[in-house]
Amino acid sequence: MSKVISIHSFRGGTGKSNTTANVAAILVGRGLRVGIVDTDIQSPGIHALFGLDENDMDLSLNDYLWGKCEIRDAAQDVTAALKAQDPSIKGQAFLIPSSIKAGEIARILREGYDVGLLNDGFQRLLVDLSLDVLMIDTHPGLNEETLLSIAISDSLAIIMRPDNQDYQGTGVAVEVARKLDVPNLVLVVNKVPQVFDFDEVQARVEHIYGCEVGAVLPHSDEMMALASSGIFALRYPDNTMSQKLRLLAHRLIS
Ligand SMILES: Nc1ncnc2c1ncn2[C@@H]1O[C@H](COP(=O)(O)OP(=O)(O)O)[C@@H](O)[C@H]1O
Ligand SMILES: [Mg+2]
Repeated sequence: MSKVISIHSFRGGTGKSNTTANVAAILVGRGLRVGIVDTDIQSPGIHALFGLDENDMDLSLNDYLWGKCEIRDAAQDVTAALKAQDPSIKGQAFLIPSSIKAGEIARILREGYDVGLLNDGFQRLLVDLSLDVLMIDTHPGLNEETLLSIAISDSLAIIMRPDNQDYQGTGVAVEVARKLDVPNLVLVVNKVPQVFDFDEVQARVEHIYGCEVGAVLPHSDEMMALASSGIFALRYPDNTMSQKLRLLAHRLIS
């Protein structure tokens, strides 16, 4: 049975794209066929983690939404980028990037698009690419696309930082996920200063939201230094952060 996993946060810069790419890479490492859709149309970025730039993107999610191509035509096989970091990778990874061209971002913001096409596209990808898992990297906050991604997800991770600006909005996102009956909902606390007591952070967040915390991830200098140029869990497999990401991947797939 294939699964849809969404990674969301109420505010931006929490670590959605890095978490999505890492969980995807870990699942590919286990032999799964994984599709990754960048639905952050307004500020796309996850392609960088797979070593793609503007010139490597022939077709994008935008082209599909404009009716110019089938969604599978916008899928790029990015397995080689993962294998370059870990040759033992067994599965296959496909990225459906959002356009990074200014004119195309402006056009989609100006003209909008039929959100129903996104859902059709997700379902088509699962079938056409014989995916085990479809991962959705979302735009922060709540909008129509986000609600749709949340509503169709088997698993949802909502990422927050231990920051007062994140606390309230995360509560709203959790409430929405509950109303939409997401079967498997976890919170991820990211960028936690190393001086914090991680067990205490986990207990506090679980108490506030009445929701399981799937991972408490440290603020990591290595991650900052990697600067989204690669997949942390493949580059530093023995790092504590990578162990936690593997547990999170397991939690989201089970
Ligand atoms: N645990 C972490 N420690 C340090 N830096 C991180 C961590 N997680 C993410 N980052 C950095 O934070 C920035 C935003 O991450 P990103 O995954 O793009 O977030 P989002 O997709 O939510 O905007 C990137 O520079 C990334 O390298
Ligand atoms: Mg992002």
